[in-house]
Amino acid sequence: MRLIYLLLFILVISCKTKPESEIEIKTRPVLGVIEKNAMVVSAREEASKIGKEILQKGGNVFDAMVATEMALAVSYPYAGNLGGGGFMVYRKANGETGAIDYREKAPLAAYKDMYLDENGDPIPEKSQLGAMAVGVPGTIAGIFEVHKKFGTLPIRELLTPVVQLAQKGYIITEKQEKRLRHFRELFIETNKDTILYAQSFKANDTIKNPKLAATLQRIIENGRDEFYKGETGQKMVEYIQSKGGIITMDDLNKYEAKWRDPVQFTYKDLTIISMSPPSSGGVCLAQIMKMIEPYDLSNYGHNTLKSIQIITEAERRAYADRSFYLGDPDFVKIPVDTLISDSYLSDRMKDFDFEQATLSSDLSYGSIPGYESSETTHYSVVDQFGNAISVTTTLNGAYGSKLYVPELGFFLNNEMDDFSAKPGMPNMFGLLGAEANAIAPEKRMLSSMTPTLVEKDGELWMSVGTPGGSTIITSVLQTILNVKEYGMTMQDAVNAPRFHHQWLPDVVVFEPNSFDKSILDSLRTKGYKTNEEESRVIGKVDGILVLPDGSLEGGADKRGDDTAVGF
Ligand code: GLY
Repeated sequence: MRLIYLLLFILVISCKTKPESEIEIKTRPVLGVIEKNAMVVSAREEASKIGKEILQKGGNVFDAMVATEMALAVSYPYAGNLGGGGFMVYRKANGETGAIDYREKAPLAAYKDMYLDENGDPIPEKSQLGAMAVGVPGTIAGIFEVHKKFGTLPIRELLTPVVQLAQKGYIITEKQEKRLRHFRELFIETNKDTILYAQSFKANDTIKNPKLAATLQRIIENGRDEFYKGETGQKMVEYIQSKGGIITMDDLNKYEAKWRDPVQFTYKDLTIISMSPPSSGGVCLAQIMKMIEPYDLSNYGHNTLKSIQIITEAERRAYADRSFYLGDPDFVKIPVDTLISDSYLSDRMKDFDFEQATLSSDLSYGSIPGYESSETTHYSVVDQFGNAISVTTTLNGAYGSKLYVPELGFFLNNEMDDFSAKPGMPNMFGLLGAEANAIAPEKRMLSSMTPTLVEKDGELWMSVGTPGGSTIITSVLQTILNVKEYGMTMQDAVNAPRFHHQWLPDVVVFEPNSFDKSILDSLRTKGYKTNEEESRVIGKVDGILVLPDGSLEGGADKRGDDTAVGF
């Protein structure tokens, strides 16, 4: 690896001395932002900068988490939030690892069939749009819990720059303009009124959000309880109920973020630390990586026929298990140890054949003897002390339920759609679910979020994660493999074209115009269904790689406005 980086640096330096026309652009590795001490990579420059400034003031990754999370809530309302939830995985400089779950919960009045009509058929818009789609938000509980355990700077110092951002405003990018235009009618329809974000904003306009600034200022003054017991909570509940929702002050009072043990496993010389249930991310990632570990991917090459086949077949099998076994561990027993064990996984891959695709219709979840027991956003931070976090946070759909509390200045999630409304029926990401993910009061809905840290030889090596609904797991997987197996830089690894398979529907989705046509033809000959046309963005990955000399490379996905900053 040292050799690869040495060659890379020589190449980059020599490129600088040549005129651009002499450079073979296509094959030149692209390095991300390189910094010596600390790095923040997120979906918005403003949020990355606020996180970095907290680190420069002497704060640690956990302080930066509080500030970055809230700065995303201001400047990236598409997924950044006060009205949603998320997960964080951490690794302290001393090697201690852990995770926090601030996922939303079903309200006390929720029940299993609440999204079914009189014929027992799901009503998707009820779990996706408006007040009935909203789960009890967890984000404010999450950041305060992180701060209580590990924070070093006062909340006031962490959140004041965020209040100022909301007051002074942030600049709309072209991508944001498109998204806001796309959802404008739905905002008005859902809220039965016009809202701040329904105005016709253009790129380079400034959006100021004084209501959100005031909400954040009250949170600075009154702490976590402002959201769960105080004026903010009261106003939010009144608004949700006025729009036909069922969340009460009791729901808010009972909400707690939870510390969890992350899923930890090895892949060759790497140790992967990822999110445990109620996210499926860590378990699925472990299953896929363990299934492909025996194969020589680096020899097959990046996005070659054999590499695509082996990754696809492992994904197929892992997603089949996901749909059956995974749910909220406080409600269902999940056989995690068996699901990620070598013996179980080698048995799962027993029928894999390079000559012929396995059909998803021939494949169910694996049998475990004696059952042992979309849009989202991600940011990665490494601090000057050697601590690292990987955080993925979400409202679920774009702008969540589209329900916006005008007096408070934020959108509410539609996370209830991540439950399986009816076992066997797909949710908005086409994911099937079973009893393990059925709705129950106070239960957390299954997630795909996969905030992940990677160690190499016992040292921090990477922080990585992404939005993308069901494609989150496979995007994180490919990014790690791009660096580990195919020797890419962090920046190239996040930019590289991706593909995705999730058992059902039985189709391999490819980012358009990015894959060799002859490879796609060969896949079809072997029985794979392929789809390039309807590909949603497959992930918007942000990551930080620790380089052999200890400096940090930030990789910010070109698919979004993502930005890496450090010092
Ligand atoms: N709402 C997307 C996820 O949690 O996976």
